[in-house]
Amino acid sequence: MALVERLSKHVALEKLNLRSQIFYDSMAIVDAVLGRLLDALLGVGDLLSPLSSLSVLLQLTALVLLFLLLLRFTCLLWSHAQFNRRLRCFSKPPTHNWLMGHLGEMRSTEEGLHAVDQLVRTYKHSCSWFLGPFYSLVRLFHPDFVKPLLLAPASITVKDELFYGFLKPWLGQSILLSNGEEWSRRRRLLTPAFHFDILRNYVKIFNHSTDIMHAKWRRLLADGESRLDMFNQISMMTLDSLLKCTFSYNSNCQESSSEYIAAILQLSDLIIDRRGRILHHWDWWYWRTPEGQRFQQACNVVHRFTRTVVQERRDQLLQQREPESHTEKKDEEEKKKKVADFIDLLLLSKDEEGRGLSDEEIKAEADTFMFGGHDTTASGISWVLYNLSQNQDYQNRCRDEVNNLLQDRQTEDIEWDDLNNLPFTTMCIKESLRLHSPVSAVTRRYTEDMHVPGDRVIPKGSICLLSIYGVHHNPEIWPDPDVYNPMRFDPENSKGRSSHAFIPFSSGPRNCIGQKFAMVELRVVIALTIRRYRVTSGPEKIKRLPQLVLRAEGGLWLHLETLDTPQE
Ligand code: HEM
Repeated sequence: MALVERLSKHVALEKLNLRSQIFYDSMAIVDAVLGRLLDALLGVGDLLSPLSSLSVLLQLTALVLLFLLLLRFTCLLWSHAQFNRRLRCFSKPPTHNWLMGHLGEMRSTEEGLHAVDQLVRTYKHSCSWFLGPFYSLVRLFHPDFVKPLLLAPASITVKDELFYGFLKPWLGQSILLSNGEEWSRRRRLLTPAFHFDILRNYVKIFNHSTDIMHAKWRRLLADGESRLDMFNQISMMTLDSLLKCTFSYNSNCQESSSEYIAAILQLSDLIIDRRGRILHHWDWWYWRTPEGQRFQQACNVVHRFTRTVVQERRDQLLQQREPESHTEKKDEEEKKKKVADFIDLLLLSKDEEGRGLSDEEIKAEADTFMFGGHDTTASGISWVLYNLSQNQDYQNRCRDEVNNLLQDRQTEDIEWDDLNNLPFTTMCIKESLRLHSPVSAVTRRYTEDMHVPGDRVIPKGSICLLSIYGVHHNPEIWPDPDVYNPMRFDPENSKGRSSHAFIPFSSGPRNCIGQKFAMVELRVVIALTIRRYRVTSGPEKIKRLPQLVLRAEGGLWLHLETLDTPQE
């Protein structure tokens, strides 16, 4: 029975890919044909000499182009009309333009976030949006509405191409972008890499990378700089530590520039840039623009780096002795505990049938860890420091907690067992992840109709935008949502709160695989930083900038004052 159920779900997913994805597939085919025709047009002058033949060919091509454009237009309009009809059960905020709908109203700026606040106050849980005459979107911002969608089985959940497609040339078919059986196999193979036994090995790395950053800060402060862009400083530190955890690679990126790091930073910027330019959404066009070519070059740098490390490690592992058969399993476990980094773990992973990941698959996953793991944690840490800079009483309380914990110690390091003894600091971190969630939303489509409260049905294939920001700022769930108050996360005050009121790492089967890793890193970095520095902010108003992760316009500049710690 279970098998039949799984098979039917699999078939449903396949159907969605074939049917509901007609939209994307037909566009891709038309794009390809249009691209070929344009290529032909551009190169045709060399092949044909008689002018008359050229003119006939051009006219014919123009006709075909026109026909394909009309076909594409009709497909889009038809699919839009279908969704429009079925989404009537959701409130539709007024639009300024009957044709363009809400297109252009989704702004990645401070004002855009205020508009979401307004939407949440007005519509309370959900609404539907129309992006131009072609796309419709269901926006959800209440725990009871996002919960059934996030908890839906992964077999009926599809990552939406419109929002995630641009990452594909960089990350390939990795865990973040894959669906169905392919995703499920990867998730099974990767999950052990984030087990507590593995994570505890990384605490030393987090301490060390933070020490390097603080040594740099001391030099900068001694040179007269009292204000630093936290985002910039901390991104370099999280990249440094992630490179060590993923590849055991010491890039020295906090001190000097690195081609690989520059390429990663460039790729993140180029993705944001591409999102904002509608013509660049068209692959054929994009790869011919200077931005597209820069993207390609940066991808080549990143892929070359990852491929080389994976191949070297595979060779090293092959040279090691095979484990004895009767103790094989035990030895494998021991080996996993001792291994230095994610690449080793991925090379050792095997599914139930003994199949491991290919080198290309490992490369895709390593690239995904680097993408998913550095900016998100950097954003998380930077905003905690910002919130503590705005609330000196909470900052002092965190400092007291850390100093009490570390008193009479020989070293300054935060250790694995210390992490559970930082309850107030952890509450401050959680409240910051609520107020300034690094990832503002996730998008999904489903292969089945989805039911949400009030007998509303989201038709299968609709794009759902599950707003983490909206849920975290919903005044029905969080009174005074814009106030930073870590006491909300006091266990007493959390009683009776919905399980989906706080979802910075998303939730359900496709939640963040790196959330424990992130929470460990956040606690180590915040504890050490608050112990060694007083962080304050100037009078200038910070403007939030929700890009791939939440940033601040012009950087997040904070003042630092070195504190004497007992060991110094
Ligand atoms: C504060 C830090 C972090 C935040 C706020 C965060 C947030 C998220 C969110 C919201 C998702 C769901 C994305 C979606 O559904 O489209 C996600 C997925 C993911 N994250 Fe994180 N993340 C963080 C750190 C990390 C780290 C450190 C790693 C790896 C080292 C990581 C790796 C991933 C991966 C691989 C996925 C895809 C999981 C899947 O689809 O099965 N994340 N993260």
